[in-house]
Amino acid sequence: MKKSDEPLFNAKKINNRVVSLSCKIEKDFYLEDLVVVCVLKGAFIFAADLIRYIGFCECILDFVKISSYGSGTESSGNIILTKDLEIGIRDKNVLIVDDILDTGASLSYLVNLLGSRDPKTLRTCVLLDKPERRKHKIQADYVGFEIENQFVIGYGLDYNEKYRELPGIYTLKEF
Ligand code: IMP
Ligand code: MG
Repeated sequence: MKKSDEPLFNAKKINNRVVSLSCKIEKDFYLEDLVVVCVLKGAFIFAADLIRYIGFCECILDFVKISSYGSGTESSGNIILTKDLEIGIRDKNVLIVDDILDTGASLSYLVNLLGSRDPKTLRTCVLLDKPERRKHKIQADYVGFEIENQFVIGYGLDYNEKYRELPGIYTLKEF
């Protein structure tokens, strides 16, 4: 596999979009408490950037980690929770922040899991959305960019744990 030379989204473009997403979230939860649930590992950079522009909410950050038994570019769809939240979310506004919505298996799993804990509100935010690949009926409330059916890396997203540190988002191609 080879990384594209040109980014699909460069750091500036990502930052502009993150700022406008943050503004929307801030308006929707103006002066309210908000628990931001960052889905490890892929969303760590996105969530870190996003919360720094959410100024008018009382923001609390926590993490979950899920695994889908997969490596490479295909996930198996069998999701297990490998790290749970450390805080309770009953009666709280909760925002799940994930890197990318692909088949929808991961986000559906998390919405069901966290929804069963009686939050006051539960919303979802993803940086990238590949609607073509969807197998589960789920849409995110906040979406950074819709993309075509291609594998992307950088800005937290990996291929076999590599490329997360890239400031831009790139596509990965077969040689
Ligand atoms: P889903 O459960 O099929 O929606 O997949 C979601 C997860 O698969 C994401 O949170 C990513 O961790 C991973 N994933 C899906 N597509 C990509 C991609 O293009 N690049 C990197 N990771 C991806
Ligand atoms: Mg992920």
